[in-house]
Amino acid sequence: ARIGKILGIWTDVDISEDEYANVEWDGLGFGLVPTDYMYMNTCRGDQQFGEGQVSVFGNIQVSPSAGVLNYGQGLFEGTKAYRKENGHLLLFRPQENAIRMQIGAERMCMPSPSVDQFVDALKQTALANRRWVPPAGKGSLYLRPLLIGTGPVLGLAPAPEYTFLVYASPVANYFKEGTAPLNLYVEEEFDRASRRGTGSVKTISNYAPVLKAQMRAKTRGFSDVLYLDSATKKYVEEVSSCNIFIAKGKRITTPATNGTILAGITRKSVIEIAQDHGYEVEERGVAVDELAEADEVFCTGTAVGVAPVGTITYGAKRMEYKTGRATICQELHSTLSGIQTGTIQDNKGWVLEI
Ligand code: COI
Repeated sequence: ARIGKILGIWTDVDISEDEYANVEWDGLGFGLVPTDYMYMNTCRGDQQFGEGQVSVFGNIQVSPSAGVLNYGQGLFEGTKAYRKENGHLLLFRPQENAIRMQIGAERMCMPSPSVDQFVDALKQTALANRRWVPPAGKGSLYLRPLLIGTGPVLGLAPAPEYTFLVYASPVANYFKEGTAPLNLYVEEEFDRASRRGTGSVKTISNYAPVLKAQMRAKTRGFSDVLYLDSATKKYVEEVSSCNIFIAKGKRITTPATNGTILAGITRKSVIEIAQDHGYEVEERGVAVDELAEADEVFCTGTAVGVAPVGTITYGAKRMEYKTGRATICQELHSTLSGIQTGTIQDNKGWVLEI
C-alpha cells in the first residue's frame, strides 16, 4: 500500500513488502548489481526540472555529441537506503546530497533539481527497488544520482539539455579488504585537485584522473592513495574516494574544506558525532608530518563508511596505527551506522523513513 501511494504509476507492479531479489547477500561487495528501476528527469538548459518518472533500469540513449561525453559536464552523488529490522527503509541526510548537487551544478553551469525533487527521486528509486535493499546487517542499497549534460554540443559550451537520473545497486563493503584496516600510500607524483579548481564538487571529471595513481598503488599492494595539496605538497587532502581523519589522544583533526577537499556528508556527520562524544575536532590544514604522530587514522565516505587505516607509506617511511575494537574509529563507526540503520535513536533529524 505504501508503494502504491508514492509510485502511483507502479500500482500494477507486484512488489510485496517482504519479497527479496535473488542476491547472495553475504557475497556483496561494491560492484554494480543491476536492479529493476531507475528514475529519469530531463530538462532544457534554460529551464528548470519538471516532474520525473521511474522507468525500467537499462541503457540510456544520448547523442555522441552529448556535453557529458565530450566535455565531462556532469556531477554524481552517492547515498544509501538502509533496511531497518522492522523492514522499513531509511535514507540518511538526503537533503545534504541535494544541496551539494546544487552547489556543484552552479559550478558546472547546469540546472539542478530542487531539494524536494532530489529527495523525491531518491525515495521513488529506493521504493521501486525495495526488494534489492539488503536485509538489515547485510549492506545497503547504494543510490547513485547523476546530473549530466545530455544535449549535443560541438564547440565548448554548456549543453542545451540535461538529465537527472538515479539508479541503485545493493552494496556492502567498498574495499576488497572488507572491514580490515586499509594500507594507504602517499601520492607524490599526481595531484587530485588544485586551488580554485573543482576539487570540492562532485564532478565526474575529478574521478577518472585518479585512476592511474590508484591502479599503481593497488599493483604495489596498497588499498588506495592519499593525496597532498598541489601547491606545497606539505598537507594531506583526501583519498581517491573518501575524506581522511587523524586522531591523537582526544583530538581529532581533518583537512578543512577550503576548495580542494570534497565536503563529505559522512565527514560532516562524523565531526558532529565526535564532538557529541567529547572529542575536540579541528578542521584545518593537516601537515603530512603529523601522520607520524597520530595514534589513529581513518577514512570517511558514503561508500566507504568509517574505515580504519592500518598503515600509511610516505616515501621510504611506513607508519602504523592503532586499529581494532577499542578505537575512536570503531566508536564513531558504530554510532554512525547505528543511526543510519535505525538501531540507535536519531535525535538529530538525520534519518528519513520512507
Ligand atoms: C561515495 O562515497 O558515495 C562516492 O561517491 C565515492 C565514489 C568514488 C564511490
